[in-house]
Amino acid sequence: MFSFLNKDQQTGEVAELQLDEQNIPAHIAIIMDGNGRWAQQRHLPRIAGHKQGMNTVKTVAMAASHLGVKVLTLYAFSTENWKRPTAEVNYLMKLPVDFFGTFVPDLVKNNIRVKVMGYTDQLPAATQKAVHDAIEDTKDCTGMVLNFALNYGGRAEIVTAVQSLAQQVQAGQLAPAAIDEDRLSQQLMTGDLGELRDPDLLIRTSGEERLSNFMLWQVAYSEFVFMDLHWPDFDQTTLEQAIYQYQQRHRRFGGLTN
Ligand code: FPP
Repeated sequence: MFSFLNKDQQTGEVAELQLDEQNIPAHIAIIMDGNGRWAQQRHLPRIAGHKQGMNTVKTVAMAASHLGVKVLTLYAFSTENWKRPTAEVNYLMKLPVDFFGTFVPDLVKNNIRVKVMGYTDQLPAATQKAVHDAIEDTKDCTGMVLNFALNYGGRAEIVTAVQSLAQQVQAGQLAPAAIDEDRLSQQLMTGDLGELRDPDLLIRTSGEERLSNFMLWQVAYSEFVFMDLHWPDFDQTTLEQAIYQYQQRHRRFGGLTN
């Protein structure tokens, strides 16, 4: 049993809660929202929020790994985020360089393997190199997979997978009738995660309650937890609170429970 101190958001009451070690979600996906608002509330530039958000990624990656999470997927940059001002985009593109530049030794020490999903060939060369080096440096790690969605979009991902299947059909390698849910799942950017490819728990911070084109196929049966705090304020305790909420749910996958 993992125990943690939970503060009730409405009453402010503090209670010790227990997490069931046998029911830690294997795959957690997070939409890390609210960096800009966190900064604005402190009269700081938006990029200060992203910088603090990067530090939160370090904290949360370690916490998730210690709790026994197998895959942690983080939405770091969407295919729509290019619409932001150039200076902010440039800063967001520099973050993986800073993050991996300082954090890879800790990842290796904690047996965490880096994976990236998204259209990485469209990223600036320095970002691509940082990502490539991190994947290479952690490739022998056998613990948690830290999966960054970078220049990722859920609809685009499905289109790319369908195009690939269509090409296989055109080449005579695949019968249309052989295309099923499993075949399409394998073709997605999470296909290499095998049975861990679909998140058990999806968390979104900052009070927004939408998917924003994130893992549209994979979250079909995920449990959703929306939290009001902004991503830079997220930490080990709030991760445990989200997992606690997950553990109160009854997952039925369309069936019935006894
Ligand atoms: C959403 O907040 C956040 C992002 C678009 C960027 C998320 C990136 C990080 C947390 C750092 C990632 C770290 C690495 C290592 C890649 P927002 O800017 O939309 O906030 P707002 O809705 O309050 O404006």
